[in-house]
Amino acid sequence: MKFEKNILCIGAGYVGGPTMAMIAYKCPQYRVTVVDINPARIAEWNSGELPIYEPGLDKLIQASRDKNLFFSTDIKDGIMDNDIIFVSVNTPTKTFGAGAGMAADLQYWETTARQILQYSKSSKVVIEKSTLPVKTAQAMENILNYSNSSVSFDVLSNPEFLAEGSAVRDLENPDRVLIGSRETESGLKARETLVEIYANWVPREKIITSNIWSSELSKIVSNAFLAQRISSINAISALCEKTDADITEVSRAVGMDSRIGGKFLNASVGFGGSCFKKDILNLVYLCRHYGLNEVADYWESVVKINQYQQERFILNMLTAMFNTLADKKICLFGFAFKANTGDTRESPAIFIARRLLEEKAEIVITDPKALRNARADLAGVNGKISFVEDPYMAAEECHAIALLTEWEIYRNLDFQKIYSTMAKPASIFDGRNILDHKRCYDIGFNVYPTGKPALTHF
Ligand SMILES: NC(=O)c1ccc[n+]([C@@H]2O[C@H](COP(=O)([O-])OP(=O)(O)OC[C@H]3O[C@@H](n4cnc5c(N)ncnc54)[C@H](O)[C@@H]3O)[C@@H](O)[C@H]2O)c1
Repeated sequence: MKFEKNILCIGAGYVGGPTMAMIAYKCPQYRVTVVDINPARIAEWNSGELPIYEPGLDKLIQASRDKNLFFSTDIKDGIMDNDIIFVSVNTPTKTFGAGAGMAADLQYWETTARQILQYSKSSKVVIEKSTLPVKTAQAMENILNYSNSSVSFDVLSNPEFLAEGSAVRDLENPDRVLIGSRETESGLKARETLVEIYANWVPREKIITSNIWSSELSKIVSNAFLAQRISSINAISALCEKTDADITEVSRAVGMDSRIGGKFLNASVGFGGSCFKKDILNLVYLCRHYGLNEVADYWESVVKINQYQQERFILNMLTAMFNTLADKKICLFGFAFKANTGDTRESPAIFIARRLLEEKAEIVITDPKALRNARADLAGVNGKISFVEDPYMAAEECHAIALLTEWEIYRNLDFQKIYSTMAKPASIFDGRNILDHKRCYDIGFNVYPTGKPALTHF
């Protein structure tokens, strides 16, 4: 069968996999190939057990895989055979050299740019899907257009706004699709090619275009704004705990102002995930690079409050449990950084687990989808750690439960049954405010919500 377009994505991760699955599903007339340097990951994409958990993703993959969606490790052939190339490799925070701990590590991205140049025998549209510092497209163009060959490259920025846990829904019905390009004749033509792909299922008015720098910057700024709302409400949750105000009541009252809006105003143990922290630090680094120190300080405080909130959670536990956690058994309900994903990157649970172990507590971790990643995250960490799939068994003989991920199943557990098997006094620290606190208190628990008065029997 002859396909209308041949599309490649380099990087088969949380973004590359689902994004390309959606394009293949919505556009059977296109051939979509996803390549990666990690053969184990590609083997999983080709198997019955996908490398990532996302609601609805398995159905999407099954519908298109081996028809017009292919996963492969053959990067060279992938580049040669396709003229539209998405780059969706990881761009983590740099851990070495200049900018360590702040700047984006662009080595994976640059390797990809060089490979595209090396293997291209025809002109390509290269699309930045990864989140990148503003002005990266300039470097991409400099690498790609360095040789004098007749092959030409147009670089577009098309940042991905999906949220893990709702990736399929977000891709199917995005708030917007952003495409940034050069405003040259060939840049605008490349932009149109990409608009045409999305227009197969996204309404035109939701496909917005901009200059390439605005597009690169908008992605980082979106994440910074989302994280800032979380840190804002978390900062106020600390004040609520000192004043007997209730953060849920405060966020409801504040969020009903239509200028503010009610989303992303839930107090919690703090944000996690692979993006928020790294993208804000990247923003801070960029601002400092341009001498905008006040702007940098402002955004850096969002990350500081997030760290403070996690540390506060531990100190609250310590205070509530008579200032010692040594030899106490504590059950962590949830390890994923949010519900409906198995992803644990930058999850507050990693920090909380490590801190509890430093206090010499024994920890039992339960999570419906993230235990494999949790094991990897805590490999080599000293202390007593166990991983138990069933939450009832996990809580047995524990002195406390720390609820860290807002999985729906935790709302509906039989807490009477759980209480009956726990050491007494039994405590619940609700880092997501999803439980029925009054009911847990009536059962006998001492209950410590986030940003609300504690309910204790002392
Ligand atoms: N995870 C999210 O929710 C999310 C959302 C929006 C944007 N983003 C951005 O998208 C990008 C990718 O994120 P992710 O979560 O999918 O990362 P990921 O780590 O899950 O996937 C990246 C993949 O790229 C592969 N890779 C690295 N170098 C390669 C190379 N030279 N050739 C081929 N493959 C290579 C890795 O093996 C890995 O499988 C990042 O820039 C991230 O900031 C992520």
